Amino acid sequence: MTSLVSRVSRRTFLGTSITATAAAALSTFPFLSVEAAQPRRIIIDADTGVDDAIAILLALRSPELKVEAFTAVSGNVPLTLTLPNTLRMVEIAGRTDIPVAAGAATPLVRNLITASYVHGTNGLGEADFPEPKMKPVAATASEVIRRLVYDNPGEITIVAIGPLTNVALALKSDAAVGKKIKEILMMGGSLSHGNVTPSAEFNFYVDPEAARVVFDSGVPLTMVGLNVTERVRIGKEQIAVLEAAKNSVSQAAAKILRSTIEHLGHGRGIVQGKMAMHDPLTVAYLLDPSILTLKEYYVQIETTGELSAGESVGYEAAPVRFSPPMDTGLATDAPRLDFKANTQVAVDVDSEKFFKLLLSRLTATN
Ligand code: BDR
Ligand code: CA
Repeated sequence: MTSLVSRVSRRTFLGTSITATAAAALSTFPFLSVEAAQPRRIIIDADTGVDDAIAILLALRSPELKVEAFTAVSGNVPLTLTLPNTLRMVEIAGRTDIPVAAGAATPLVRNLITASYVHGTNGLGEADFPEPKMKPVAATASEVIRRLVYDNPGEITIVAIGPLTNVALALKSDAAVGKKIKEILMMGGSLSHGNVTPSAEFNFYVDPEAARVVFDSGVPLTMVGLNVTERVRIGKEQIAVLEAAKNSVSQAAAKILRSTIEHLGHGRGIVQGKMAMHDPLTVAYLLDPSILTLKEYYVQIETTGELSAGESVGYEAAPVRFSPPMDTGLATDAPRLDFKANTQVAVDVDSEKFFKLLLSRLTATN
């Protein structure tokens, strides 16, 4: 962890100037309270494919956020690609002061299923970028998460935009970690439908057991699922806006999106030439919470279903009733009446506001 520690001390200096920029941003973003003048400290855990890449660039162009570390996980493509893709995005944004750690290559207990049919064989929609020069830190993703959370109790928000394997490993590494995390904001699940099976969304489908650990953790959770993320689709018009701006972040975002739509636009996942911005919407919520409407639910993840593993099931109120037990002899038919929500779930989205924010951040001159 020495390399992480030295990078963190370098960040202290950078953090000061970012705080000043964040304060200046208050006049531009009146929804931010005075309390929000301090940038929110986050770790982004990503399976860097196409929309993760845009989410990372958005975060790095937003002074309201202080990204303490990036952690990579397998998902859209294997870790051998998500890790270099994460490093590439950090380099493009000129933020090589932020540590990047390698995480889990496989889900907790299952074989890895990827989504190269949406993200391309390289995870960036076949857009070609040079090998990154930056190296990952020596510590693993779960160690980095655990260390940052321990050193900053109650301060760190984890923004999880891939399968939850790394986050679950950090939570399982010792019982106290969860109590010290401020919040876990995740892209995943849905209260209505899936995008891999009729019932499961990709991130939860890939590692349902990890998602279960997170939903059982007692950490304050916010879930941004398909019911809202599929309502923010980017197409050629917005890509042209990105292309017109001459900064390197905007150019990279446009290159990835254009290539994805051209190479993969006729397959699964891209509808009428438009691609859902699942992960950027999740990050955007931290910049302007009014983009999403949230509602409290008790959410649990299906782990045993032969056809439905990874499904997120949300209860709005008691009774919370699970499937009937097999050993009927001793079972009581007593649903839980002590309703306790464990998740803020996004139920509505202002897509116009989202795109305005996304495009303005990516196209802004450095
Ligand atoms: C989620 O799965 C991935 O393909 C995307 O990056 C997003 O995180 C959407 O189901
Ligand atoms: Ca993702």
